[in-house]
Amino acid sequence: MTDQSDLTTTLGKLTLKNPFMLASAPPTASVEHILRGFRAGWGGAVIKTIHPDGMAIRDVSPRFAAWKGAGGELLGFENIELLSKKSVSYWEAGIGQIREEFPDRILIASIMGDPDPKSWQELAGTVQDAGCDAIELNVSCPHGMPEAGVGAAIGQNPPLVNQLTRSVVKSVKVPVYVKMTPNITDITLPAKAAAAGGAAGISAINSVQSLCGVDIETFGPHPSVDGMSTHGGYSGPAIKPIGLGRVAAIAGCIDLPVMGIGGVSTWQDAVEYLLLGASAVQVCTAVMWNGYGIVKEMNRGLVSYLAWKGFSSPDELRGLGLRQLTAHQSLSRDVRIRPVITDAKKCDGCGRCVVACRDGGYGAIRLVKKKPIIDPAACDGCGLCILVCPSGALGALEDQ
Ligand SMILES: Cc1cc2nc3c(=O)[nH]c(=O)nc-3n(C[C@H](O)[C@H](O)[C@H](O)COP(=O)(O)O)c2cc1C
Repeated sequence: MTDQSDLTTTLGKLTLKNPFMLASAPPTASVEHILRGFRAGWGGAVIKTIHPDGMAIRDVSPRFAAWKGAGGELLGFENIELLSKKSVSYWEAGIGQIREEFPDRILIASIMGDPDPKSWQELAGTVQDAGCDAIELNVSCPHGMPEAGVGAAIGQNPPLVNQLTRSVVKSVKVPVYVKMTPNITDITLPAKAAAAGGAAGISAINSVQSLCGVDIETFGPHPSVDGMSTHGGYSGPAIKPIGLGRVAAIAGCIDLPVMGIGGVSTWQDAVEYLLLGASAVQVCTAVMWNGYGIVKEMNRGLVSYLAWKGFSSPDELRGLGLRQLTAHQSLSRDVRIRPVITDAKKCDGCGRCVVACRDGGYGAIRLVKKKPIIDPAACDGCGLCILVCPSGALGALEDQ
């Protein structure tokens, strides 16, 4: 394998050993956690959100729920967890300790104060003096904190994002990133407000407000805390499409580094974020489910991918996919795809394509001797049959 220094990545003024960072969450809940993450090979970490000692943080139990596939694999994860359980003085000492042991990694302190920007400024000064490389403003936690006027209550209000960013930026020298909530109609508005306030970059996204499921026997939404529940934050593979969409929107409208977050589990997921404009990615749920060790395969895979595509750095991938993103009305109407059986041996005549096309499409497919026959005159080229085919027997030809 090529040396991992090949993955050196630029994040604004900071340099990462690789573009894989631990997001602010349980895997960065203590010094010991972060040290183990760095030993496994993560390029950076964002500390679980630090808050003034006076802000009462009492977690509930249980605080997680999951949506799993038929094989038990994780599709989506919901949490109603709050912020760091450690004191400010714990992190003051801890930041120094991590810095000393891993001077080559990027350590970002996520912070949240009360509704008064002064408390954010004080906390920002403290974590800066302790030695963190950058600060991330958590204005995006979707549960609990908005009820106290912070978290997403700030992130959903662009003037407040602007005011808070401006206050913190003027009180510190280190770069200030602002973490966006996806729970807003147009995420570019708070992102632009943060940029106008002097942010060094944007982190996107925090978790997506959700109810992960309902117990149909007791009628109670998950997770049940002594019989009651609350709206939580959704994360993991299910939110990757939301994260990708939001990152592309932000990268397409402001010229600042973006840390892409949401459903990253593999190096391929990370490449997708980089192609849509992210400079680096942050990972939470995949580590909670599979451990810090997943970064080894992420590093290995990205090194091979860069070599295969002829790139010398992850930086060269940044935004390449944005060139192929345009307004719907600008998309070509001159091309039609035509479904064809590309591998007849794979088709077992299950008929899924026929049913999908009959009830969700144009009635263009019938089975003859257990093989799909496509009527080109009826086919509208929507592509549904190819997606529902479980065996991969159907492919697409492009008609001009
Ligand atoms: C249990 C849990 C706790 C989290 N705590 C925080 C937090 O303290 N601060 C923060 O900014 N984001 C927090 N997050 C959000 C993550 O940092 C991340 O934005 C989100 O989970 C999406 O990434 P993922 O799909 O890789 O998990 C938390 C997420 C989870 C699942």
